[in-house]
Amino acid sequence: MTLERRQSRLALPAPVERQRFRRRLLTWYWKHGRDLPWRRTRDPYRILVSEIMLQQTQVDRVMPKYKEWLKKYPTLKALAAARPHDVIRSWYPLGYNIRPRRLHAIARESVLRYGGALPDDETTLRSFKGIGPYTAGAILSFAFGRREAILDTNVARVLYRVFVGTGELRTHALQRHLWSLSRVLLPRRHVFDFNQGLMDFGATVCTARRPRCRSCPLATTCRTGPIDSRPAGLRKK
Ligand code: ADE
Repeated sequence: MTLERRQSRLALPAPVERQRFRRRLLTWYWKHGRDLPWRRTRDPYRILVSEIMLQQTQVDRVMPKYKEWLKKYPTLKALAAARPHDVIRSWYPLGYNIRPRRLHAIARESVLRYGGALPDDETTLRSFKGIGPYTAGAILSFAFGRREAILDTNVARVLYRVFVGTGELRTHALQRHLWSLSRVLLPRRHVFDFNQGLMDFGATVCTARRPRCRSCPLATTCRTGPIDSRPAGLRKK
């Protein structure tokens, strides 16, 4: 691919395109978004619990554990006061036991150093083990109402398909570009709904294996074009 072609693929969309994307995504989300328990709260601790659980576990499996966990440990303070052994046992059967350990450490440090509240700045959040750029953006935008972008695998796939289309998938340059896209697309208002909508859209319409292009509200401007109408033999397994 020529440099020119590559640059045009990695150019940021014009303001009218950004606006169209925001409008279509939000309209879709308000009609089809899932009603999930962590969307009914702005409590930073609850958002943190949900995001750590969702890091490696599907929504359906997280839901009952999320509710059970919050009954047992309703606040950062309650979690901080618990014994490590109990915290890890309470996590079962979610797996990846590093996650409850880290959640516990975050709770203890928040109590020790931040008065029992989760810090609301990116640098401090990122200083905790277990909080990477995605989780920090999620906490800042969902709990603190900040205009912060997110990028997880679902969101990356949506932005890649809609705005990039084809070509190299995992380079640092592409990753940086996808973060830039996620930032420039953020609306001024409704950041919470927009970010949750991006995730839901990736999880239910623009899915990895069977994207539902025929009912996709972004189909007319998508750079990838309809994937589900191609002959099965040409589809990526
Ligand atoms: N995966 C990660 N965070 C999520 C969220 N807030 N809602 C649904 N799926 C998610």
